[in-house]
Amino acid sequence: MQDDIAEVLVSAAEIKKRVKEMGAAISRDYAGKDLLVVGILKGAIIFLADLVREITIPLQLDFMAVSSYGAGTTTSGAVRILKDLEVPVEDKHLLIVEDIVDTGLTLKYLLENLKARKPLSVRSCTILDKPERRLVDVHVDYSGFSIPDYFVVGYGLDYAQKYRHLPDICVLKPEVYNGQR
Ligand code: XMP
Ligand code: MG
Repeated sequence: MQDDIAEVLVSAAEIKKRVKEMGAAISRDYAGKDLLVVGILKGAIIFLADLVREITIPLQLDFMAVSSYGAGTTTSGAVRILKDLEVPVEDKHLLIVEDIVDTGLTLKYLLENLKARKPLSVRSCTILDKPERRLVDVHVDYSGFSIPDYFVVGYGLDYAQKYRHLPDICVLKPEVYNGQR
């Protein structure tokens, strides 16, 4: 496993510090508001678990699972809902929690889909952002780290469902994904 890693891009210690800051900002911004945190399965679960424990105001948690059509490590743009929210949202302020915003297609779809349900507000939060890769204009309200265009794993992010449990955000050796990206 260690042999598959080219380098640590963001260490567990750096992540911890940043997530604390993000939790504090969210706690300030949503004070007195009815917050529903929408975790996007599976990639966001590790970040979400850390983030919500840094949020000091009441909140509710729910999850969505989405899948972009196509295998490998790139997205085609078409998004499909595999699992939807279980609670109504009209009386809630929604915060979408993502692992990474890459082309922006997934987040754009989620924002449009959730806005159509007429919640009080919808904002977005991601631990990683790859601005160079953006194909659509999408606003990220809370971003942990902007990173260059490397394929990364760990801290919830996978390649072929592996490496999610790594505590650091790591760059995978290109030969591991063998041009499948
Ligand atoms: P976009 O913004 O392109 O992101 O719709 C869709 C999904 O692509 C995945 N993604 C990655 N996953 N390492 C990963 O493990 C990466 O470097 C990476 N870049 C994009 C991710 O699941 C995201 O939700
Ligand atoms: Mg993924």
